[in-house]
Amino acid sequence: PGDLHFTYKGVLYPTVLCCPETFQKLEGFEAREDDVVMVAYPKCGMNWLTFILNEIVFLSAKKPQSPDIPVIEFGTPEKLERINKQPSPRVLTTHLHHDNIPSSFFKNKVKKLVLFRNPKDAAVSYFHFHNNNPKLPSFSSWDEFFQQFISGKVFYGCYFKYMLAWNNYVDDDDVLIVTYEDMKKNLVAGVKQIAEFFGLPLTQEQIQEIADKSTFQNMKANYQETHGQFGQFLFRKGDVGDWKNHFSPAQSREIDAKFKECLGGTNLEAKLKY
Ligand code: PPS
Repeated sequence: PGDLHFTYKGVLYPTVLCCPETFQKLEGFEAREDDVVMVAYPKCGMNWLTFILNEIVFLSAKKPQSPDIPVIEFGTPEKLERINKQPSPRVLTTHLHHDNIPSSFFKNKVKKLVLFRNPKDAAVSYFHFHNNNPKLPSFSSWDEFFQQFISGKVFYGCYFKYMLAWNNYVDDDDVLIVTYEDMKKNLVAGVKQIAEFFGLPLTQEQIQEIADKSTFQNMKANYQETHGQFGQFLFRKGDVGDWKNHFSPAQSREIDAKFKECLGGTNLEAKLKY
């Protein structure tokens, strides 16, 4: 239904989270050199890494975690006014495609953590999120969602194009690529790498403390406090490979082919190995 989404620069967005006025205002947004920024396509684990980034900033800079929504494109233009007044270092996140991120994030050499997840698991997570969250349109079947996902007719557009847009920047000093899968494999190493990238020093004990707090089990157990009602849809399974419970062999081949078609032979493909 038309009232559940709108289109901005050719990409579909959910009305419940975003509005065109904020998008317009965002174009002139001034990022700061010491902002702690994360970029991720929906359902790649952004809330997980946002929690980790807030903990890193809190423990290293002793700055209280901000109660505001860190996703820059969510909410009203007034939310942006509040972000403008926040003291540094600010944790800012976005699901926006590379080319739609405000230009100051590149011009000002702001460090950006870019998080990717296997598109098959991201698709499964997205499907359940749509069907479990009453504020989002639901899909009558997995097959229907799969078709929309692979053809890019979902909120925030095509994930494959989204990934490809980062290919030219994977080796830039102000970009750190991390994957959901690597974070699952070694959370301690992931937290350490991220803190070092942002130049926010932590002791070994602090790194361990953050890793312990940010496991799926612990974050799920505390969701009421950290995410309110939204948490009940967010913390679903937190696994690598749940796609195997949803994809037909043909669908799996289709995604593999799409991935090759979009990213075959690129630096990013070599980094991600999906
Ligand atoms: S959103 O709504 O687009 O911002 O979703 P996002 O936060 O990007 O991704 C949601 C998926 O991340 C999983 N998640 C976690 N995985 C591992 N560890 C922790 N701590 C964690 N926290 C959230 C969440 O469960 C969603 O994945 P699925 O596969 O649906 O469980």
